Amino acid sequence: MFEGLATLPADPILGLMSLFRNDTNANKVDLGVGVYKNEYGETPVLASVQEAEARMLSRQVSKSYVGPGGNPAFNAAMSELLLGRSPALAEGRFAAVQTPGGCGALRVAAELIKTANPSATIWVSDPTWGNHIPLLGNAGLAIRQYPYFDPVSSLVAFDAMMSTLANVKPGDLVLLHGCCHNPSGADLSPEQWREVAALALKTGFTPFIDMAYQGLADDLDGDAYGLRCLADHLPEVVVAASCSKNFGIYRERVGLVGLLAANPGSAQAAVSHMLSIVRGIYSMPPDHGAALVAEVLTDPQLRQRWESEVAEMRDRINGLRDLFSSAMQSRLGSNRFDFVKRQKGMFSFLGLSEAEVLRLRSQYAIYMLSSSRASIAGFNSTNLDYVCDAIAQVVTT
Ligand code: LMR
Repeated sequence: MFEGLATLPADPILGLMSLFRNDTNANKVDLGVGVYKNEYGETPVLASVQEAEARMLSRQVSKSYVGPGGNPAFNAAMSELLLGRSPALAEGRFAAVQTPGGCGALRVAAELIKTANPSATIWVSDPTWGNHIPLLGNAGLAIRQYPYFDPVSSLVAFDAMMSTLANVKPGDLVLLHGCCHNPSGADLSPEQWREVAALALKTGFTPFIDMAYQGLADDLDGDAYGLRCLADHLPEVVVAASCSKNFGIYRERVGLVGLLAANPGSAQAAVSHMLSIVRGIYSMPPDHGAALVAEVLTDPQLRQRWESEVAEMRDRINGLRDLFSSAMQSRLGSNRFDFVKRQKGMFSFLGLSEAEVLRLRSQYAIYMLSSSRASIAGFNSTNLDYVCDAIAQVVTT
């Protein structure tokens, strides 16, 4: 039966990860996968998470099942991290369940949308994270794109985006990145978020927020501005959140799917569907990572330590953005790469052609996606000059 299956190409992001691992060049630089790295090129376990893990080890008395909805303390703490003081929480209009990573959250959300409205289309930004389309589309929903990024200005193509969204039909979903747009690094301003909320109210589409990098753009609350603005103005919002990056627990697979519903009854009904969807796919999420997040978020001392660790990661990424822009300015004598310091989060498109990206890979062992999406956290004081020299070389010769 399986002999008819042809071998598929590797995933563009995960495949690049293994190409990098297998490269024996001592100068190799990984600007591929979106994983935070410190000055030494390491992705350490956060001290707050380590402490929570030690506590859990000494305290845990059972590994019996938790249930398809996951850890209730995690669900409550994450809902509050996302929505802040939104009245929707007190009103019981927000329902959430723990998922295996942000990917699990996106997929459970897509299955829920399919159950509620099988003819819904999900509109995703052009460009968007490569895995959005398979994760959502494989649930059987139609996917369409709206313009998002203007490669000439390196800003959000807001007018083009809004004129496409003005024609989205009621009942469709519009996927927006809560902050740190992946892959472009170009985010909506607070004013633009307010305009999106007004448009959603007028046309009747439902915003669907992917929040994978909360805390890595401006700060934990500021990065949730868009989500909270939508939650304050609209009857329904879908959210998929990931704890991979801001807690540094990538391999633990921790996420949350949430739904803001028009009333508490609809929120409860939606939860019953989420639980049934979860049971029918993977039965229950893994416990460990979510238990760590719950401990960190609910213990005041651990939370404070975690918030400063998030600030440290964010400041480092923002500092690298400045360093890269000025290093390129001094090499090229132009402001061609200045946009990098104005963008946010883990990624920017460097605006290189695919041929230039491949030359960087083959001649210099510098790895980024073929779209020239670079993971800024991959820079450090040892490799920055090497990478900037190489980029200057490939764009000028
Ligand atoms: C990325 O975009 O590099 C990360 O979100 C990792 C992934 O799973 O693709």
